[in-house]
Amino acid sequence: MPIESCCLIDLPKISDPRGNLTFIEGGRHVEFDVRRVYYLYDVPGGAVRGGHGHKQLHQLIIALSGSFDVVLDDGTAKTRFHLNQPNRGLYICPMIWRELDTFSSGSVCLVLASEVYDESDYYRDYDRFQLAADAERLRMTRQK
Ligand code: TYD
Repeated sequence: MPIESCCLIDLPKISDPRGNLTFIEGGRHVEFDVRRVYYLYDVPGGAVRGGHGHKQLHQLIIALSGSFDVVLDDGTAKTRFHLNQPNRGLYICPMIWRELDTFSSGSVCLVLASEVYDESDYYRDYDRFQLAADAERLRMTRQK
């Protein structure tokens, strides 16, 4: 899918003197049903995570604490997003290569995913991902 299908999503923030509260509801803030949640933490300075694409998976990535960058690549275009707010998520559609870098010390990356973990859904080789993305783009163009 084109990179334009990925977007930042503002999440509700309920502030009161006891602190802030943010919630995420399936079907409202994310269109997919959430079947898995995982998080990255204790990421050493300079580490790069991700470095793969997914065939079917939808995800929402949130910087729960601290900050990091997410570089998205649909096989032709690349966009870098800086995530640093716990009430803002980055929606990533299927067929997008992603890399996460520039993690600040103590940052926590929360990921909501539409499916349970399935290694067969991954592209871990960029050239194979790009071939599949090209084929998908051609198929979509022919459908129009
Ligand atoms: P990986 O997806 O490569 O992490 P990243 O997105 O940071 O590149 O996963 C790292 C390892 O963790 C790999 O061996 C698969 C395993 N893993 C699970 O078992 N379950 C999960 O939900 C995830 C995301 C990864």
